Amino acid sequence: MGIIIKGTGSYVPEKILTNADLEKMVETSDEWIRTRTGIQERHISTPEQATSDLAYEAAVKALANANMSAEELDLIVVATVTPDHSFPSTGCVLQRRLGAKNAFCFDLEAACSGLLYSLETAFSLLKCRDKYKNALVIGAEKLSSITNWKDRNTCVLFGDGAGAVIIGKDDSVDYDCIVASDLHSDGNYSEVLKRRSGGSRMPDTAETIAEGLNCIYMEGKEVFKLAVGAMVGAAKSVLAQSGVAASELRYVIPHQANYRIIDAVAQRLEVEDEVIYRNVHRYGNTSAASIGLCLDEINSSGAVKRGDYLVLTAFGGGLTWASLLIKW
Ligand code: UT7
Repeated sequence: MGIIIKGTGSYVPEKILTNADLEKMVETSDEWIRTRTGIQERHISTPEQATSDLAYEAAVKALANANMSAEELDLIVVATVTPDHSFPSTGCVLQRRLGAKNAFCFDLEAACSGLLYSLETAFSLLKCRDKYKNALVIGAEKLSSITNWKDRNTCVLFGDGAGAVIIGKDDSVDYDCIVASDLHSDGNYSEVLKRRSGGSRMPDTAETIAEGLNCIYMEGKEVFKLAVGAMVGAAKSVLAQSGVAASELRYVIPHQANYRIIDAVAQRLEVEDEVIYRNVHRYGNTSAASIGLCLDEINSSGAVKRGDYLVLTAFGGGLTWASLLIKW
């Protein structure tokens, strides 16, 4: 009996915001955005769409891909920094829409590392309790709802989307999908990437909103420096723990924040360029959704098959960072 990836799904809103569109909103240029980040466009939700709506579309596709009904789910974990409400959890809102009446549901907040933290959490619950068979894990974000559209430092970077993975027990396999894991946090760096108001420390007022304190704040250069070392370190750790060589990897999927960060990770891991998965040019940085969008793309295009090894590596606010060595 193993715990394997049974299905994936993803969703991005229809509306595309291009670099040319952003040139009309703030003092920026397509050239600056492309050379500094690699991003060409991102998808933006309608005002009516909430994070759970994006998660729902991805979840329905993942269930179909796994050939499962929602009632077969024992657990739903939604990784997000943009929940529909502070409570109830987006997981519970999603449960109601899916009709996943046998699942217990919660949200997990680890910023851009959220999907990997959630996969590790769901996997561990399945592993230690016979009664839990299947888990739906989703990274879903409506980052456009906490983006300051007047701040060129950040508004060009982010996008909305959802990526879902179903993991579950299968009698016919003798391996687990998470071969090794390496998860970290360092709250000493909590100030470099955060939303300054909107929580119990500083509830929102007309003033906090006018100042943009309710939106994403990032010290880009500092985050960049820390991100590369942390993602590479965690990726090397899962390779060392498992004994799998970098040359055996089908894919390395880094959190899709920026081409330059992804290139630096590739260089330090010494893997062939075609092994590194990139789609940040199409979606921007979608935080917890980013690796889920990649996983669904490789799955739905048939680019990955049972037994392939992948390294997933992510970094985000908290600070948090994590790598998983996945056997598909
Ligand atoms: O998902 C969580 C993890 N997040 C990340 O990994 C993001 C990490 N950081 C980054 O990706 C990069 O630091 C950024 C892409 C955010 C910024 O790139 P950078 O090379 O670090 O640029 P910078 O912040 O040092 O800014 C360089 C210049 C500044 O102008 P001056 O002071 O040199 O005159 C900025 O004001 O570029 C200016 N600038 C812009 N110019 C045109 C900043 N944003 C823009 C913009 N368009 N959108």
